[in-house]
Amino acid sequence: MSAMQTSHPVAGPRADYGQLQREALSVLEGIDDPIAVMSTLACLVYGAVPGTSFAGFYRVVAPRLLRIGPYQGPLGCLEIPFDRGVCGAAAREERSQLVPDVHAFPGHIACDAGARSEVVVPVRDARGAVVGVLDLDSHAPSNFDDADREGLERLLAAIAPAFGG
Ligand code: SME
Repeated sequence: MSAMQTSHPVAGPRADYGQLQREALSVLEGIDDPIAVMSTLACLVYGAVPGTSFAGFYRVVAPRLLRIGPYQGPLGCLEIPFDRGVCGAAAREERSQLVPDVHAFPGHIACDAGARSEVVVPVRDARGAVVGVLDLDSHAPSNFDDADREGLERLLAAIAPAFGG
């Protein structure tokens, strides 16, 4: 890490989102099966983002209802209504949620009692419709910041055609 980057709010190693995106696009070239795409992304993201305890997808399966999709990490809640939790907020508001302290987020759902911070990014199809969310949790407070949010948003935008639309 260069001296220019030492003021970064997140301590410790950083994810290389450029490398992550190149790898994801290479591995997923020609694949438009959402389960294959989500499984592969959950694996790659979990391995690439330091401090991540859970990385996975919740899918919109009915109006205002999310259901668990492919993930890595401890057991996730099976279903999350749009009016609950950080994932519900991301789906409802159609924008990313960066939560440095989950205990300060009203309605946070503690699937994993050890979770302290999270970032949730909407998943869109090629037409921009929200088809789910990508949720990353960490046992460390403030594990994620805007660089993570932006890197994940870019990754999902690049992958959007694989989700149809
Ligand atoms: N914490 C999330 C629920 C999903 S799990 O942590 C895997 C939320 O509040 O939406």
